[in-house]
Amino acid sequence: MTSEAYARARAACEAVKSRTDFRPRAALVLGSGLGAFADSLDVADAIPYSEIDGFPTSSVPGHAGRLVLGTLGGVPLAVLQGRVHVYEGYSPSEAVIPVRAAGLLGAETLILTNASGAINPDFAAGDLALIEDHILHNVASPLAGANDDGFGTRFPDMSETYSKKLRTLARAAAAKLGLRLPGGVYIQTAGPQFETPAEIRAFRTLGADLVGMSTAIEAIAARHMGLAVLGISCVSNAAAGLSGAPLSHGEVQEAANAAAGRFKALLKAVISEL
Ligand code: HPA
Repeated sequence: MTSEAYARARAACEAVKSRTDFRPRAALVLGSGLGAFADSLDVADAIPYSEIDGFPTSSVPGHAGRLVLGTLGGVPLAVLQGRVHVYEGYSPSEAVIPVRAAGLLGAETLILTNASGAINPDFAAGDLALIEDHILHNVASPLAGANDDGFGTRFPDMSETYSKKLRTLARAAAAKLGLRLPGGVYIQTAGPQFETPAEIRAFRTLGADLVGMSTAIEAIAARHMGLAVLGISCVSNAAAGLSGAPLSHGEVQEAANAAAGRFKALLKAVISEL
């Protein structure tokens, strides 16, 4: 199964290479409601996931499902406009195929973005936040199964999953723009149900500040391949039990829309420094 996922990432890379000479230096995954950022690129090509051999296709509203190749601030980028999630029925190793394919295409840096719920009360809905580390909860490793040494070592180190250098760069960019950018630990759950208040209290005790249903497995796959990773989260709501209100996907999209301008400004500033 896992060897098959590695083969699919290679096939996806070859499919893209045979279609275009464009080679990205960095890759960007756009999370829930954040897909419009791809409009900022000088687009060279946009390929629906369904046309890329080996790619899984996304079924979530707010996730377009296109690989957009283009430049921003002179930096050649592969933008994954929409991701697939474990809750859609994909295995973790399938869900990371797009990120692996971007690494094989030549990306040395991976910027992961997502929407999250705030467990830590110092984070407010509408904040952009810096992912400093993660906890993978109740989701299997994307590296489970036979290891492909062509991608990376069997037991990769995860002591600096989110690059210190890129975090410093992102903080400096946010400060220059006058944006708040609190940092914290993100916990990835399996979903698709939102958490219970008891789970959120447990996650707080574990040391998590933000909760969501993606990202950590992609960061693991990228670090396995040696990419430098940056994680930016758009906080869409206070986590379950903290505000008294029920949670909905609509609110996730609304928060992403409200943060779109700041998100774009921050990403542009970071990318132009890569
Ligand atoms: N929980 C899990 N995933 C999320 C949340 C949440 O509260 N908000 C946005 N994505």
